Amino acid sequence: MRRKLAAGNWKMNGLSGQLTELEALAEAHPKPAVDVLICPPVTLLATAARQCPFDIGAQDCHANASGAHTGDVSAEMLRDVGAKAVIVGHSERRESYDEHSDIVRAKARAAQQAGLMAIVCMGESLAQREAQNTLDIIGGQLAGSVPDNATAENLVIAYEPIWAIGTGLVPSLAQIGEVHGFIRARLERRFGAGVGRGVRILYGGSVKPDNAAEIFQVPDVDGALVGGASLKAADFSPIINALEGA
Ligand code: PGA
Repeated sequence: MRRKLAAGNWKMNGLSGQLTELEALAEAHPKPAVDVLICPPVTLLATAARQCPFDIGAQDCHANASGAHTGDVSAEMLRDVGAKAVIVGHSERRESYDEHSDIVRAKARAAQQAGLMAIVCMGESLAQREAQNTLDIIGGQLAGSVPDNATAENLVIAYEPIWAIGTGLVPSLAQIGEVHGFIRARLERRFGAGVGRGVRILYGGSVKPDNAAEIFQVPDVDGALVGGASLKAADFSPIINALEGA
């Protein structure tokens, strides 16, 4: 009942020439059986949204709709140039910009109010996992970062263990399953069975063509948020195939 989602997060990568990768991806997937979302840098957003048949998303937004915030971009502005979604609370932003869950929640709320789907990221550090605090951390981030008005359409959760991002390390399938099951139960408890069962939960962190299929077999994994392997059509395409086959 949940439509699967393959989301690519280009991070701070990509000049205009990189848009040819989206053309190649569109050629390889003229009618994908899953949702495909590409989140390029904000500089490419408008062009990508015009040219690319897939949904386009941003990687961050400000919590306010407008105002004196030099250098920032609001959710409304993203929507205005064709974005359908925005990633909020990525660990790289939580760490580099000290973005705590209350800020992430305000950004997610702003995104939803602007008509965007908020992809709210959360994940534990290696030290937190080793101290067996993973579920406490995830429970706290979930409670703190997700606004109250969630629907299956305006919210996606991305579980991204910090130690798995860009490292080639991946949790065991049992570990992924444990966290996704936990998130699902918390969503159902907070939002009721209908919304709780409808919200998609993505796994992120070193998803590659060679490990995607097994990760997509894990219950409550509704797709992936893919960094490095989303930059090249040749890498992202087999991940989309794996999700279609799951
Ligand atoms: P990665 O990044 O796939 O390069 O590990 C994932 C992410 O940070 O969203």
